[in-house]
Amino acid sequence: MGRKILVTGSNGLIGSEVCVYFARRGFKVHGADNNQRAVFFGPQGDTRWNQQRLQTTLADFTHHELDIRNRQGIDTLVKEVSPHLLVHTAAQPSHDRAAAIPFDDFDTNAGGTLNLLEACRQHCPETPFIHMSTNKVYGDGPNRVALVELEKRWDYGDSHRDHGIPETFSIDQCLHSLFGASKAAADVLVQEYGRYFNLPTCCLRGGCLTGPNHTGVELHGFLSYLVKCNLEGREYSVFGYQGKQVRDNLHSEDVAAFMHEFYQRPRCGEVYNLGGGKENSCSILEAFEIVEALSGRRQKYTYQNKNRIGDHICYYSDLRKMKQHYPRWAVTCSLQQIIAEIVQAWHDRLQSPS
Ligand SMILES: NC(=O)c1ccc[n+]([C@@H]2O[C@H](COP(=O)([O-])OP(=O)(O)OC[C@H]3O[C@@H](n4cnc5c(N)ncnc54)[C@H](O)[C@@H]3O)[C@@H](O)[C@H]2O)c1
Repeated sequence: MGRKILVTGSNGLIGSEVCVYFARRGFKVHGADNNQRAVFFGPQGDTRWNQQRLQTTLADFTHHELDIRNRQGIDTLVKEVSPHLLVHTAAQPSHDRAAAIPFDDFDTNAGGTLNLLEACRQHCPETPFIHMSTNKVYGDGPNRVALVELEKRWDYGDSHRDHGIPETFSIDQCLHSLFGASKAAADVLVQEYGRYFNLPTCCLRGGCLTGPNHTGVELHGFLSYLVKCNLEGREYSVFGYQGKQVRDNLHSEDVAAFMHEFYQRPRCGEVYNLGGGKENSCSILEAFEIVEALSGRRQKYTYQNKNRIGDHICYYSDLRKMKQHYPRWAVTCSLQQIIAEIVQAWHDRLQSPS
């Protein structure tokens, strides 16, 4: 019998990449999504194009139109599919949006995760459960690390400078945003099902995860959205920190590759910081330069002095724990390559009639 994977948020960036990655490795793929991104962000966030791509290109893909807040629906789906691997990527992913829709945000991020965990405990407790968490669970704590201001970026001014933020960094007593709080609730639940019930769970605390299939919008998916603005000749709004705020960027295929490693040798209740690390980090100003060189178009932007509430000034992931537990995993796609792929993808998408 073939192996089966169930992916929530399968129309999204990470979910769709995971579907493709495991389909190529012979898995029967079940995706669950209800295009909620279009509800959260409006038509610009519509993900149906990506769902159609999966339905038309993958040999063995089944789409389930399901809201993860539907407890009974999730229970039935997990029972019926009985997957060998569950990857949970469905979420309300934006800080700013969460403040406007606190119940939708919490019910999706925390409640939806609990629905999935409990369904797995009841029906497939041996199945590795991989949860996409976020570095926002650290709240604005990383902003308290001593920083140095360089010409085009901020950087850590202490021992974090060599490797970035580790999993031992406190998630407590700091400002999270409602999104960070709902994701922290989910993160702790996933750990708890691993530690208390011995389920093979892990939380991947993502940095900026991106790639050509991101439906970037202003409130989520900064590199994808920045490239889109550049190609359309539109202004990108920079919020504070002189545009020197730093993010580490990881290609969604490298995310899926890590999940494959975890699936092959699962552990219980683990937490990993998953990002591009220092090598793949850039500030917004640095990203502008790379995109301009690739597209040949100047980046128009406006600057607003006020930063987004709780926004990280500098963040890059310490990847040493992942690499120690899973030495076969490495970042394979450089920042330049990632941006080049995004430029090409937006170029094609903007040209094709929708
Ligand atoms: N992309 C990043 O930079 C990044 C960084 C850190 C963490 N993450 C986390 O990774 C996960 C995936 O992120 P992404 O960038 O692929 O987001 P995305 O918005 O592209 O994908 C999420 C998908 O989930 C679906 N969804 C949302 N609510 C749903 C619901 N109630 N029921 C069913 N489907 C629902 C959406 O329609 C969307 O297709 C999220 O948990 C996010 O917090 C992403």
